[in-house]
Amino acid sequence: MYRPELEHQQLDENRQGEALVGYEIISSVPKRYFYIESYGCAMNFSDSEIVASILNQEGMVSTRELIQADLILINTCSIREKAEETVRKRLTDFKHLKKEKPDLIVGVLGCMAERLKAKFIEEEKLVDIVVGPDAYRDLPNLLSKVDYGEKGVNVFLSREETYADIAPLRLDSNGVSAFISIMRGCDNMCSFCVVPYTRGRERSRSAFTIIAEAEDLFQKGYREVTLLGQNVDSYKWLNPEGDQIINFAELLEMVALVNPLLRIRFSTSHPKDITDEVLYTIAKYPNICKYIHLPIQSGSSRILSLMNRTYDREWYMNRVQAIYQIIPDCAISSDIITGFCSETESDHKETLSAIEWAKYTMSYMFYYSERPGTPAAKKLTDDVPLELKKSRLSQIIELQRDVSFQLNQLDIGKTFEVLIEGDSKRSDKMFKGRNSQNKIIIFEKKPNYYSGNYVNVKVTSATSATLSGEII
Ligand code: SAH
Ligand code: SF4
Ligand code: F3S
Repeated sequence: MYRPELEHQQLDENRQGEALVGYEIISSVPKRYFYIESYGCAMNFSDSEIVASILNQEGMVSTRELIQADLILINTCSIREKAEETVRKRLTDFKHLKKEKPDLIVGVLGCMAERLKAKFIEEEKLVDIVVGPDAYRDLPNLLSKVDYGEKGVNVFLSREETYADIAPLRLDSNGVSAFISIMRGCDNMCSFCVVPYTRGRERSRSAFTIIAEAEDLFQKGYREVTLLGQNVDSYKWLNPEGDQIINFAELLEMVALVNPLLRIRFSTSHPKDITDEVLYTIAKYPNICKYIHLPIQSGSSRILSLMNRTYDREWYMNRVQAIYQIIPDCAISSDIITGFCSETESDHKETLSAIEWAKYTMSYMFYYSERPGTPAAKKLTDDVPLELKKSRLSQIIELQRDVSFQLNQLDIGKTFEVLIEGDSKRSDKMFKGRNSQNKIIIFEKKPNYYSGNYVNVKVTSATSATLSGEII
């Protein structure tokens, strides 16, 4: 039967199990659904989109319903012990699903897969495949192994893999903001950190493919991209002709030039590597957001040295001064670890004073969790009692809350350009968006304003976490 409506119809995501024969769609191959869940940092969320794209190429279809899935993947994080516990707990939720559906395949991806390798399969009987962050291209092959009754493990770490050519399949997207991975791995050896072992050596992705991805996103209606790497300031890409090295400042500029309506964010900046050239580039382009995540980790030079962060308190403060001088309206946020090996009360006080001094708009705050195999685990003693770690952490959280609150109060009466991201969690009569400084602003909807639009919002009130305002 001739069905004209099918003539120009593309096979969409949900029809990939169907074969187009002549003008008829004949359902032949049964669809295989995958469900993917991500933990840890933005890098993992971004990687899951690469994995989804690889599986999509194989004809598999993404589902948000666990019970529909033929393949469940969990993209894991090893950064702290708690992160690993969360994953182990989540795996137990899948046990009953596997009982009901014996063909169900469960796969573990990401940093915990890399850290535990085949041990994962011994320890967690329901796991069929274990894939490290550089081996996602091998997933189809590993899946076919499982189809033949074997287990699939690939935790090979590469010096080259950047998945540069893979167009990520956007998962759980708001259609406005997206991540673009610009580099992988990390060559810093912060003594507390497991990332160099789980993600391997640092490598930068081709600038051309980064720009192409940004252009494609803009054309699809996205208005904000976040460039991702463990240490974006050490981005360095040599063009194929071998005659031009592009550094992070230059990359930022190239992405900023894609379109003035595309906002650029980036994370994470390392205090030892952030250059004035980067700061001047941020200042120069209105569409590069005035927001820098610059983790200090500790305010004490002695602890920073034990952490092997390669900067001291003075160096860090100098970088903060340069930021506020070159980009006066810039917001800075931080990561803080409390209770690191041998931390004293006076080290702790230095961390507290740094929070006030640097005027962080927010921080991610943790107590130290020793990770097996890291330099700190091998050479230092995790000697701050848990109770003390917890009480220092509460002091840090409380102080950060006060500082955020004070800074947010200063925004009352100011007007910001806000990119609308969608409905606020609290009410569908309210929009949620962010200003350039990455502060969340909630405001009442008005007719003819939509997600992805820029609006001017005047701030009328503020808590430590959120600004509220009205469209003007
Ligand atoms: N590349 C980024 C950080 C990535 S990990 C940077 O260098 O800043 C994210 C954060 O987790 C770190 O900044 C640190 O604050 C925290 N973290 C890392 N290892 C940790 C550990 N062993 N215990 C507690 N927090 C840790
Ligand atoms: Fe870990 Fe340090 Fe690399 Fe960040 S810079 S990922 S903290 S080793
Ligand atoms: Fe976790 Fe790996 Fe990211 S350890 S924080 S998921 S790089």
